[in-house]
Amino acid sequence: MGDRKFFVGGNWKMNGLKPDIDEIVAFMNAGPLNENTDVVVSPPAIYLDYARQKLNANIGVAAQNCYKAGKGAFTGDISPEMIKDCGCEWVILGHSERRNVFGENDELVGAKTKYALSQGLSVIACIGEKLEEREADQTMDVVQRQTTALIENIGDNWGKVVLAYEPVWAIGTGKTATPDQAQEVHQKLRAWLAGKTSDTVAQSLRIIYGGSVNAGNCKDLAQKEDIDGFLVGGASLKPDFVKIVNAKE
Ligand code: 13P
Repeated sequence: MGDRKFFVGGNWKMNGLKPDIDEIVAFMNAGPLNENTDVVVSPPAIYLDYARQKLNANIGVAAQNCYKAGKGAFTGDISPEMIKDCGCEWVILGHSERRNVFGENDELVGAKTKYALSQGLSVIACIGEKLEEREADQTMDVVQRQTTALIENIGDNWGKVVLAYEPVWAIGTGKTATPDQAQEVHQKLRAWLAGKTSDTVAQSLRIIYGGSVNAGNCKDLAQKEDIDGFLVGGASLKPDFVKIVNAKE
C-alpha cells in the first residue's frame, strides 16, 4: 500500500435546510475525526458559505458541481471563483446524478475539471458504470472511457484530484459493492492509469469508493489495499458519518 492519505467525503446532495445543517455541523465539529484522514463535506451550493463559516477549519468543504467558466450568462450555475470566494477548496464533478439526471457528458465533465483545476480548486472526479453495463461486462470499458476524458484535462494537476468510483447501481440503493468488487475495479483502474499517466501518479492518486457506504460496511471496505476512502451520500447526513470518517484505523 502506498502512503495515500485516507479521504472521506460527505455528499449531502439536495438535502438539508439550515436547522439540519446546524445538526450536521454540530456532530462534525464534535468529532473526534481521525487526523490521518482528509474530511470534506459537500453542501448544496446555496449553503456553501453558511456551512463553511460554521465548520471547523480541519473539515474541507466542496461544491457539488460548477461550470467551466468564471462568470457570464449562465443562469443558475456557479463558478470555481465563487466557490473559492466562499472559502471552499473542493468541487465534486461528474457525479452520476449530474451525468444521468442532468445529461452531462464526458466532454463537459472534462472541461469543468480543467477549468476548476486552473482556478486552484481541488476536484473529486466521479466515474462509475450503470447496472446494465456491469451485467454486460462493460465496467472497465465505461470507467476507462470516463477517466480518459479526465486525463487529458488534468494534465500535471493529479495532486489536486481524488477519483471517486461510484457504481451507479450501488448509489442510494442500499446495494453496496462488496469489498472485493470495489477493490477489483480500483486495482484495475490504478494499473491502467499507470500506463496512461505514470507509476507515480497511479500510486499516489486516491481512488475512493461511493455507493451505499454506511457505518456497518465501511471498515471492511477500508481494509482493501486500493480503496483510499469513500464518497458517502445518505449516511453523511447522520452522526454515523463520524464512524465512517474513522473507518481506517
Ligand atoms: P449513497 O451513499 O446515498 O448511496 O450515495 C453515494 C453517492 O452518490 C455519493 O456521492
